[in-house]
Amino acid sequence: MQLKPKPEKRALPDTVTALNVSNKKSKDHADQQRPPDMSPEAFGGKDEQGTGLLYLCDNLRIMRALPENFIDLIYMDPPFFTRKERRARSRIRESVDSFEDKWGSGGIEGYIKWLSPRLIEARRLLNSTGLIYLHLDWHAVHYVKVEMDRIFGYNRFINEIIWRYRTGGVSKNMFARKHDTILAYSKTQEYRIEPWKEKAYTKSRYRKAGKVNYGSGDAEFFRDSNGVYNYVNASDVWEIPYINSQAKERVGYPSQKPESLLERIISSSTRSGDTVADFFCGSGTTGVVAQKLGRRWILADKSRDAVEVSRFRLLDAVRANNVRKDYMGIKIHEC
Ligand SMILES: C[S@@+](CC[C@H](N)C(=O)[O-])C[C@H]1O[C@@H](n2cnc3c(N)ncnc32)[C@H](O)[C@@H]1O
Repeated sequence: MQLKPKPEKRALPDTVTALNVSNKKSKDHADQQRPPDMSPEAFGGKDEQGTGLLYLCDNLRIMRALPENFIDLIYMDPPFFTRKERRARSRIRESVDSFEDKWGSGGIEGYIKWLSPRLIEARRLLNSTGLIYLHLDWHAVHYVKVEMDRIFGYNRFINEIIWRYRTGGVSKNMFARKHDTILAYSKTQEYRIEPWKEKAYTKSRYRKAGKVNYGSGDAEFFRDSNGVYNYVNASDVWEIPYINSQAKERVGYPSQKPESLLERIISSSTRSGDTVADFFCGSGTTGVVAQKLGRRWILADKSRDAVEVSRFRLLDAVRANNVRKDYMGIKIHEC
């Protein structure tokens, strides 16, 4: 793969359209009353086009401007409260991309105060079968869990997904930290998740490949070089490698998440044509996977670097299944 195409100009005025979102409360309220433009034109729509909307915007502003009850799945990967600036050398542009994760003297209370209105908006935007997957790690997840219970309801908590990886060092004085946590909540009881099936090897020496009748139904066992197994619904611990330095999908955006992680979330929790949103989109991983899986997507990030990297990746994703290899139709909506 050509990793360093000619760097695109940082500002792309011909692709940037202004979204008429005002700071004023009354205007925000008026925007909330307006139904979303879900027309094929707004989302691209035709097979050979991108099927989404990309915003360069503080997410609270765009979330408040969108109407309620229309999104099927929200994946959110906010800064984790590391209290550092996150930086990485881009692999697709001549730049170092970065985002701030410093919280000054406000500490964890300040972080929760900042995140909370965004979680409230996320709940408002979800439709009745909608789900949110909120990606965090040890820095803040326990505080945010309490806030999510307050906003979505303790009974709407579905899963604490452990994303386990092996990257990074070991520690002398504690157990090495090798997982992130993804909190899944539903808006109502009507949500749909279809766990994929995975192999479960039996410890029994007597189990043979073939059908077994347990009384309550048949189970089918198979054999491979590791032993005898059957298929069971996936658990909440997901072992997925972090993106390695040579991976084709790596764009060099700090904290870029693997496409395979988003594939699991989107394919198990949405259907073809559903709308998936990511208001902390970074390098656009959620949109890229949604596009590949035939879902509509809404992405936002307040960083121009992030949105331009996202646009670059989304164009690639659209062109991959497209007769028009020069497709340029993804616009950046600025607000
Ligand atoms: C952890 S990164 C997301 C990485 C992304 N999941 C990926 O795979 O590339 C967090 C992103 O949130 C963005 N961000 C932070 N505060 C924001 C805000 N108020 N509005 C919109 N984006 C914000 C940052 O610019 C950064 O790109």
